[in-house]
Amino acid sequence: MPASLPANHLVGHGQDAHRLTAGRRLVIGGVEVPSERGAEAHSDGDVLLHALADALLSAFALGDIGKLFPPSDPAFEGLDSRRIVAAVLEKARQAADFELVNVAAVVTLDAPKLGARREAIAAAVADLMALPPQRVGITFKTSEGLAPDHVQASVVVFLRVS
Ligand code: C5P
Ligand code: MG
Repeated sequence: MPASLPANHLVGHGQDAHRLTAGRRLVIGGVEVPSERGAEAHSDGDVLLHALADALLSAFALGDIGKLFPPSDPAFEGLDSRRIVAAVLEKARQAADFELVNVAAVVTLDAPKLGARREAIAAAVADLMALPPQRVGITFKTSEGLAPDHVQASVVVFLRVS
């Protein structure tokens, strides 16, 4: 890789999906949402934070969270995904000096409706990323019935590197 890349901004993109199942918690961006079904997952199944962590890693071409937190490792059972994001932030800081500009996330879920929790979720993500809440955009979409048994997220991060 050349020592100096011309761009001083980077974009990262991540996405994630989990199956919805009864008896599990639904956690989105670190916020627990009352729901009949939650994410079937080894960790807490927070699709937004998993996509965010992958977005950060992708900005620096550092692979993905499966490399850092293998689902086969029992140590990560029920893991709070905020810890995944914290570990990824640390890894990214080792790779480069950067300042996060903004986070743009889309969460796709047919039910429950999440609109009333947009501010709480944006505030939780902003807190985690040390960003002002107005730099965390959260869009909610249904799948229009195409994926009623899944919760999905896609996240873009924009960074300034120095
Ligand atoms: O997917 P669709 O465009 O039909 O969603 C309509 C609106 O419903 C979205 O713009 C969003 O504000 C809201 N929504 C929500 N919670 C969801 C899915 C969608 O609040 N789980
Ligand atoms: Mg996941």
